[in-house]
Amino acid sequence: MRVINFNAGPAGLPLPALERARDELLDFQGSGMSIMEHSHRGKEYDAVHQETIARLERLLGLPKTHTVLFSTGGASMQFALIPTNFLHAGTSADYVLTGGWSEKALDEAKVLGQTRVAASTRNPDGRYTRVPTQAEVTFDPKAAYVHTTSNNTLFGTQFHSFLDTGAVPHVCDMSSDFLWKPIDCAKFDLIYAGAQKNLGPSGVVVIVAKKAFLESARKDIPKVFRYQTHAEANSLYNTPPTLAIYLVRNVLTWMEGQGGLPAMERRNRAKADALYGCLDSLAGFYSAPVEKASRSTMNVVFRLPSEALEEQFVAEAKKAGMVGLKGHRLTGGLRVSTYNAVSEADVQTLVGFMKSFAKSKG
Ligand SMILES: Cc1ncc(COP(=O)(O)O)c(C=O)c1O
Repeated sequence: MRVINFNAGPAGLPLPALERARDELLDFQGSGMSIMEHSHRGKEYDAVHQETIARLERLLGLPKTHTVLFSTGGASMQFALIPTNFLHAGTSADYVLTGGWSEKALDEAKVLGQTRVAASTRNPDGRYTRVPTQAEVTFDPKAAYVHTTSNNTLFGTQFHSFLDTGAVPHVCDMSSDFLWKPIDCAKFDLIYAGAQKNLGPSGVVVIVAKKAFLESARKDIPKVFRYQTHAEANSLYNTPPTLAIYLVRNVLTWMEGQGGLPAMERRNRAKADALYGCLDSLAGFYSAPVEKASRSTMNVVFRLPSEALEEQFVAEAKKAGMVGLKGHRLTGGLRVSTYNAVSEADVQTLVGFMKSFAKSKG
């Protein structure tokens, strides 16, 4: 029996994507072996690789100026690879701090060169409860790039309109909200997203980058660290994570079958409205710390009157078939992650549980 999975990542995957993997596991398309046993240079895997890229391009409506890459090492490795590639000697990079992940991204850049905090919404207690408005950010017009985080997985905040970085290249960590809705990729120079939330299992990072930005990168770094090396080799410079990419292919196939990104957005907004509506209507019992304009559609965080009640909530929800509700170890409280694979019905089940829990304990 499958549970309702509200994990923050790795997160639940759409059932049809898993069923397809199960059906194809031992004998991929009559080849007598699984996809992960195929050579990454063979025609079977190559078809999967090209299809995954083509589906991403189609879902995003990607302009010809941009390209799709696959990387490994998680989003955390991109924290280091970005300054390695783009923080040229004598330049500085701007970082917008909106949560723990953006702090980590900044820490890696600091090791390699000059950085500047263009804005920070960190509260005195170290928590973040909102993202900055455009007016609060001061960009260095000479910056090598501006780094932002579109959705802050730990604190449950999200940019609902992206910052305009002007002529300065915009690099964005979209690990926890990539493909939640249509986006205009032309506005970004580099987007990266670990797959394990909205688009597949861990092990692969999807990168969408402006070709000219990749060409502008430093050349005095090891070849394997250069994004351009991987772009020139169509992400086949070395052995890619073939099984993870195959699973991303299955998830993207499901997404397109559901109606693509407009359909994902409608579902995701409906789920977020249901959850925040429930929290607001029971505000005497539940408290939602994030300012309304910054509320995430992907990670809904809230607290109960006591830690004992929070523990009870998690335990009783588990008995009712719902897992993954405990907040991040750094933030405490509760967190519901409602990535693309979580259905509206799943969220309605949780909302029903939240109402009856508040009624019986409040
Ligand atoms: C926004 C964001 N950035 C980066 C990361 C780090 O990803 P990884 O564990 O793949 O390095 C995470 C992981 O949860 C995340 O949510």
